[in-house]
Amino acid sequence: MSKDAIRWVVKDSSKPNVFWPSEEMKKKAWVSDEKIYEEAAKDPVAWWAKLAEDGIEWFKKWTETFVHEPPFYKWFVGGKLNICYNAVDRHVKTWRRNKAAILWEPEPLNEPHRVLTYYDLYREVNKFANVLKRLGVKKGDRVGIYLPMIPEVIIAMLACARIGAVHSVVFSAFSGQALKDRLLDAEAKVLVTADGYYRRGSIINLKSNADIGVEGTTVEKIVVVKRLGLNVNMVEGRDYWWHELMKDAEPYCEPEVLDSEDMHFILYTSGTTGKPKGIEHHVGGYAVQAYWTARLTFDLHDDDVFFCTADIGWITGHTYNCYGPLLNGATFVLYEGAPDYPAPDRWWQIVEKYGVTIFYTAPTAIRMLMKYGDEWVKKHDLSTLRLLGSVGEPINEEAWLWYFNVVGGGRCPIIDTWWQTETGGTLIHSLPGIGPFIPTVAGRPFPGTKFAVLTEDGKQASIGEVGYLVHLPPFAPGMLRTVYKDPERFKQQYFGVYGDTIYYTGDGAYIHDAMGNIRITGRVDDVMKVAGHRIANAEVENAIAQHTAVVECAVVPMPHDIKGEVPVAFVVLKPGYEPSNDLETEIKRIVDKLIGPIARPEKIFFVEDLPKTRSGKIMRRILRALLRNEPVGDVTTLMNPESVHRLKEIIWLKRS
Ligand code: WTA
Repeated sequence: MSKDAIRWVVKDSSKPNVFWPSEEMKKKAWVSDEKIYEEAAKDPVAWWAKLAEDGIEWFKKWTETFVHEPPFYKWFVGGKLNICYNAVDRHVKTWRRNKAAILWEPEPLNEPHRVLTYYDLYREVNKFANVLKRLGVKKGDRVGIYLPMIPEVIIAMLACARIGAVHSVVFSAFSGQALKDRLLDAEAKVLVTADGYYRRGSIINLKSNADIGVEGTTVEKIVVVKRLGLNVNMVEGRDYWWHELMKDAEPYCEPEVLDSEDMHFILYTSGTTGKPKGIEHHVGGYAVQAYWTARLTFDLHDDDVFFCTADIGWITGHTYNCYGPLLNGATFVLYEGAPDYPAPDRWWQIVEKYGVTIFYTAPTAIRMLMKYGDEWVKKHDLSTLRLLGSVGEPINEEAWLWYFNVVGGGRCPIIDTWWQTETGGTLIHSLPGIGPFIPTVAGRPFPGTKFAVLTEDGKQASIGEVGYLVHLPPFAPGMLRTVYKDPERFKQQYFGVYGDTIYYTGDGAYIHDAMGNIRITGRVDDVMKVAGHRIANAEVENAIAQHTAVVECAVVPMPHDIKGEVPVAFVVLKPGYEPSNDLETEIKRIVDKLIGPIARPEKIFFVEDLPKTRSGKIMRRILRALLRNEPVGDVTTLMNPESVHRLKEIIWLKRS
């Protein structure tokens, strides 16, 4: 590490493992005065109105800032804007025209990287917007995007935003079937995909998955990016090469004047049922929150190089690998491949190569890289780093300290950002110029937002008491507006627990101290976080139940060193079928096929019976406790209490 590396944090003189911003950080940071919290809280609606005005260029100002018709709410009503215009056009009129927007790093080391300036991006986005129009895409139409981490994914998203089409990005590691479910629900007209991409040195043939995905859907046209030059199946009249369409596309496309409450995108995420829900984000509120959280949460400045490792298929990718940095005119790294390919220092090599200043990743990745050992980090000069971020699940103390000491050299704050697909942007974390930075404690709600921890009966939990994390009005502008085509599910899922003015997050939490810093304890519903990916138990169960040998099954999470948690399945077989390794493999394969390898059960227990209530509900709570060797509690009210004893034996046998 170079000698002049700046210290961005200082130790608390009286408490171990508590850190505060240093004078250098306070001087640099956009905000460093504690008073911001109090000021924003005085009138949160007026506060957000001011932010909206300062951060975003509107074609027409809104007439009403916040409208609440519980459980629904709107922001900046009557305002007109275009996110693509704000993310690109705005900058090409300034000195940022030739500033690097995207530093694209391909996975193979022998392939050159690509730099797209704001002007490059402007040209490509305009052209692709015209391509979409030519393919018949109109304002409000849904466009599926099934692309790896290549610049075209950003271009496609922005082109949709430019013409007011609604993008629905599907994680490229999801299976063709998972893609199909999402395309069907969204009723997408066009799909943008690629021939293939590299992952850990292997070639993934994405187009063949896409072909499965579009079968029987409303998709009329497919645009295929030639990433690898694979020989793929192209259907005449349906499939077109990206580069061919772009060749003669018109260079300018007028940005559509959109309403603040027009739909911006849909992103599918797992709820408590087997059917993923389409989280619907709208233009104005999302733009304001993406701009301001990128800026204040990560203290993003013009001279920063931001590297967020999240895939674009997740909300973190949407907000911090696309909209947030671009709205700010920032430079960011987009990396195609795996963190440990060709060696476990790939990310550190990228940090060194581009002089990354802000690095944002997930605890699961930190734990994995920690296992490889410090020497991989130490090989590289990481002295440009000034801020580290974490997202996706609660970060354990050991990983926090390693990240802080080894990656950050003890110099950089860790911003532990709690948020969700639903919230659109970060919402609970310490601010870089204010602090404090405490392992496992996320921090305070973003200025102008209100959260509480409630007990079962709706009372405020006291300090240290674990309860349910809720968000109170006025809800942050970037919050979801509804579940696509399913407002009932929106009501029931988020406003069905404490009433229609209290947003239920699904997370457990407690207030850590008198300052109001919050510690998140994790999901309290039937949703798992597997290596940071959000997966519903029921989705995996539905997939397993497709196997002809399966009568019923239950999937529960089990703690895992690196991934945080992994799905484990308890499967009851039909008469005539015997448990075997082959059957286990087949079941895992069916999960790969219907969802994707991220949801594959780590273990499968073949059992005769599952513990059930008298009404026939499977008691997953008991299975969880058994897996963790925890007390199962009172089982006398079960329909089949004897099943618990048998399960204990089976789990014990498989362990030993
Ligand atoms: C969890 C990811 C603790 C939480 C942006 C939440 C976290 C779910 C944190 C949303 C964090 C996210 N600390 N838990 N810093 N960040 N979570 O929709 O359980 O993929 O409800 O959005 O991740 O996951 P999602």
